[in-house]
Amino acid sequence: MNITLTVNRKIHHLDVEPRVLLADVLRETLGLTGTKIGCDTGHCGSCVVMLNGRSLKSCTALAVQADGATIGTVEGLADNGKLNNLQEGFWERHGTQCGFCTSGMLMSLTDMLQRNPTPDEAEIRRWLEGNLCRCTGYQNVVSAAQYAIEKTQSPARMITDTPAKEIFQNRVRLLLSGDAERLVDEHYHDDAVLVGFDFTVRGKDALRKHFRNFFKWVKIEEVLSTDKFTETEDSYFYEATVRTNSGVSRVFDAYYMRDQKIVYHFTGMIK
Ligand code: FES
Ligand code: FES
Repeated sequence: MNITLTVNRKIHHLDVEPRVLLADVLRETLGLTGTKIGCDTGHCGSCVVMLNGRSLKSCTALAVQADGATIGTVEGLADNGKLNNLQEGFWERHGTQCGFCTSGMLMSLTDMLQRNPTPDEAEIRRWLEGNLCRCTGYQNVVSAAQYAIEKTQSPARMITDTPAKEIFQNRVRLLLSGDAERLVDEHYHDDAVLVGFDFTVRGKDALRKHFRNFFKWVKIEEVLSTDKFTETEDSYFYEATVRTNSGVSRVFDAYYMRDQKIVYHFTGMIK
């Protein structure tokens, strides 16, 4: 039978046997072997994919039943080769061992996060009930999901596990709200210096005026990612990708701190 599947945003016109399983078509016809087959009873969850936006055990559906559907597999989760937050969580929190169950878990948790971006631990565990792991167990998988939730919810798109990251995240909140007064009062010393490519601002009054003007022209809408963050005892540096009212930009800043407030700040933004 002729069917059409849109898999990971690519359209496929296929001629399949009526009795062939969706899991087999994904793996054997399309070569998407990230989807695993770990049982023949529909219990293990290794074969979970997204079908029209909802998770499904692909060994429980015939390919012909999916005719016209939009399907997502684990191969489609990364964005231009960059792991998404959930995949990164599995990496950072050691949520995988042999990896056989991992793609199914990723897809089940993807469905969960689409329906509820801030599930608690009990809900995460409920979503994993249909996914069996024979070697790692579930604790680190839950932790991986929590990593993804924290990072996605963070206005700076990061895990805030150091004092400097906490300061930076608070700063991002004020940048997003365009609050020049609090930004300066809470983050700069009286004698702080801000240096850009073609300007220097010195002292709190001048800084307030600078940020008020800046926010008149530039609305920072979202931090898309904090791509680099390095810190020492008295300094930190970051690079981030942000969306503003005039498009997507790269920003980078270096801060020298005294008593957790900025004394010297170098800033740059490039399109
Ligand atoms: Fe085990 Fe599908 S292969 S549930
Ligand atoms: Fe081996 Fe889960 S990591 S089965």
